[in-house]
Amino acid sequence: MPHTTRSAPPAGPELLPLLTELHRRIGDTFIVSGVGLHIADPVLAKAVLANVGADFTEHSDFFATATGFLGPRELQQQIAREARDLLAAYLTTHAADLPRLAGVHLAPEAVMPDAANRLLHEHLGPVLLGPGTDPSVRAVVADVVTHAVLAGARARRGRLRRALLRHRAYAALAAETARRRRRPARVATDLLDVVALALPEDYDPIQAVEVFLSLLFATVGSTGFLLSWALYLVGHHPDQADAPPSALVRETLRLWPVAWLFGRPAARAHDLGPARVEAGQTVHVCAYLVQRHPGHWSDPDDFRPDRWRGGVPGAFLPFGWGTHACTGAAVATGLVADVLAQLLAAYAVTVCDDGRQPQVGPALAPPPHRIRLVPRRRERR
Ligand code: HEM
Repeated sequence: MPHTTRSAPPAGPELLPLLTELHRRIGDTFIVSGVGLHIADPVLAKAVLANVGADFTEHSDFFATATGFLGPRELQQQIAREARDLLAAYLTTHAADLPRLAGVHLAPEAVMPDAANRLLHEHLGPVLLGPGTDPSVRAVVADVVTHAVLAGARARRGRLRRALLRHRAYAALAAETARRRRRPARVATDLLDVVALALPEDYDPIQAVEVFLSLLFATVGSTGFLLSWALYLVGHHPDQADAPPSALVRETLRLWPVAWLFGRPAARAHDLGPARVEAGQTVHVCAYLVQRHPGHWSDPDDFRPDRWRGGVPGAFLPFGWGTHACTGAAVATGLVADVLAQLLAAYAVTVCDDGRQPQVGPALAPPPHRIRLVPRRRERR
């Protein structure tokens, strides 16, 4: 995702039709009043994200915290790499747990997208916080999932109760981080260790907690939304259920990129295609528009997994682009493809959807809906 809500874009279901209309009327670079310049052209989008001309301040939503970016860059890269590797190793050794968990959380009927997030939380719980973790820390992180990670959680809980939970979570995770750092063994066995053990002597506890929370949002939040979108689309297009799971995942990410808008603050005034950008202005790269660009995709609004037979076209950036592109992309897509492969081999998916709109915030989540899994009689090809 943008894995934190720090550079939160404006939210609301009306936003996507508005941006689509402005793109259609004005073109690939347009200004949304009160928000700023939006980019829908893939070449300009990649130039902004790759920051080749150093026109933008270096930025990573993942490592942005209330007290500034966790740094230096080498530390970010170390944490990103170690987290990805630990997660990948865990998923390999625990792959056999998935079918049972998917059945428990999603069959025969589930309320989505929350059930997908809860499935991933249960599956990944031990790699987020290993067995030696104090149960009170585990409990507060479970509360964070319920009240901050699930789509719509912010709307369901008042500001004061959110602030209290934040306070409790930060205190518990900061104390647990300090405890991990005092242990003689310096080998990371869970994702909190990855962060705790990488930090320097004079580390900032807020940054430690927030980077761990970025990992929680990425694994349980973004990856759960991707799984939920994929099942939602298959449920609406049952004739596509036999497409290769990797194509289902890509086509899902193209139509409904969980991370759909990336803000980049300009370091200096410069020209960006036909637009003039002033120093300090934030430019918004809109993956949602890039990936439905009629100049780059045929039938851009249609769900067509078969379009992925020929490789990955350029107008596709669901995991960002350039040096800050998502480190966990392969792990997340592999995990979702595995769940789809297992579920779609065993069940047909139907969606009970009362026409509600997607949930548009810092992440793009499916509308609240129910899925029903009906055992399949024939063998999957
Ligand atoms: C479907 C799931 C996911 C989506 C859609 C997603 C999306 C993204 C995007 C768009 C960025 C770039 C943000 C920007 O340029 O500001 C990013 C960065 C990042 N993601 Fe993910 N992500 C997902 C899952 C994961 C997972 C499972 C991990 C765990 C290792 C992860 C780790 C990271 C890290 C460490 C960065 C920062 C890279 C850097 O700044 O160097 N992501 N993600």
